[in-house]
Amino acid sequence: MDKILVLDFGGQYNQLIARRVRDDKVYAEIVPYNKITPGKIAERAYRGIIFTGGPNSVYDPASPHFDRAVLDLGIPVLGICYGHQLTAYMAGGVIASAGETSEYGKIELAVKDKSCPLFEGVPRTSVCWMSHTDQVVTVPDGFHITASTGSCLCAAMCDPSRRIYSVQFHPEVTHTEYGKTILHNFLYNICGCSGDWTMENFASRQIEKYKHELSGKKVLCALSGGVDSSVAAVLLHRAIGDELTCVFVDHGLLRKNEGDLVEKMFRENYSINMIRVDAKDRFLAKLAGVTEPERKRKIIGEEFIRVFEDAAKQIGHVHVLVQGTIYPDVIESGAGDAATIKSHHNVGGLPDVIDFDEIVEPLRDLFKDEVRAVGEELGLPSSFVWRQPFPGPGLAIRVIGEITEEKLDILRDADAIFREEIFNAGLERSTAQYFAVLTDTRTVGVMGDARTYGYTVALRAVATDDFMTADWSRIPYDVLEKASNRITNEVKSVSRVVYDVTSKPPATVEWE
Ligand code: XMP
Repeated sequence: MDKILVLDFGGQYNQLIARRVRDDKVYAEIVPYNKITPGKIAERAYRGIIFTGGPNSVYDPASPHFDRAVLDLGIPVLGICYGHQLTAYMAGGVIASAGETSEYGKIELAVKDKSCPLFEGVPRTSVCWMSHTDQVVTVPDGFHITASTGSCLCAAMCDPSRRIYSVQFHPEVTHTEYGKTILHNFLYNICGCSGDWTMENFASRQIEKYKHELSGKKVLCALSGGVDSSVAAVLLHRAIGDELTCVFVDHGLLRKNEGDLVEKMFRENYSINMIRVDAKDRFLAKLAGVTEPERKRKIIGEEFIRVFEDAAKQIGHVHVLVQGTIYPDVIESGAGDAATIKSHHNVGGLPDVIDFDEIVEPLRDLFKDEVRAVGEELGLPSSFVWRQPFPGPGLAIRVIGEITEEKLDILRDADAIFREEIFNAGLERSTAQYFAVLTDTRTVGVMGDARTYGYTVALRAVATDDFMTADWSRIPYDVLEKASNRITNEVKSVSRVVYDVTSKPPATVEWE
């Protein structure tokens, strides 16, 4: 498989670059600039390297730099924004502050060298998207300028003999009219990629691979009922059938009817060995009286291990653990030893506790929507594949303060109503995540001429692609009104409903 390295210098569009490359049927992986060496790059036989943007200035001593030997590996390079300046700097060019001629937003780009393979199919003038305060003022030896804007002479440059190209603008954002063409040209004209990255190949390749690799081994899958672990489980089941056992730990902190729904989906659609562990009492006993969010998370993580340990003992010696780690988890962990970090994040350090020979993460190269595509291809019901994310600690971090069964029941009912109204309004696909939170605040109300003193439920709905940043969703007032009316009427002990209009940052998606 052809691979492109996206060398990460801290730009905000890095994931987008990788997505664009993958959308063009070439596999891309993002690696932080300080986690790889030119030697490793050569060893991994990348077809091309993209230097990303970043917030720094190349002359700032604290700015991220890279070994200039990378330019002599014979692997094509595309520098973007900071990556363009860094390419110039590493090759001996000069960069200076653009001062008052800094460019932000849509700018007209003029291609100067029509023979440059990066600009094949790009008209002489088009719109590009700029965001920079520095610019290349002297191009390095061997390079020439291939495109300019009104105030940035070197908007693009190249050294065709070494196949090094760079652009000051951002081809990965949709505002750059011919951005897709430019990236496509880099991948196919310059790097010579063959376009062998597709989801269909991915699923069948993985199944074939695990059929051989895991033959004769007993495999256990930690199933949360979320999309990632469910897709991992079905994929592995296709590969090894009955050698796989899924352990679904119901910690009593799931949404209304969720445990049954997950179990039903698996039992009705697949003949997968599945153990559902009802661990509600254990979890609630450990959480009794605990109000601090981080304590709650720790307790849940630890208890999860204990329950999983008991289940593993019951099954007998298990060789392999399957986890639904996906690519953003790997990036978040800073790459490198992602398996360990994810296991801590995901299931509370299982590998340290139970003696596995191996951890298998079949989805660790995929973004969320790619995982969903694999899920659909594997035949998981689309209602399941498109479920919104749900955090591991579950409702424990949506009941503010102490967790009790009564509060969990109130929250489950309110949350189910809100989700139903979002669904009835046809907003479930366009709203990335939507849920109710039970606050610890009681307020006065009036019902049937009598005073009430009940809980305040907060509704939260966000729009986001990557969950790193999020905007609060502009849910229509009539949908909010219906949800609010139904919650105060149908859910005992709730006297007030509020809507959270805070984005991330400064807030986070979850309240705790
Ligand atoms: P925050 O609250 O950090 O949430 O803005 C971002 C996304 O991550 C989910 N989330 C979690 N998922 N374990 C998980 O598996 C967790 O501990 C956890 N905390 C937050 C959250 O639901 C949102 O989708």
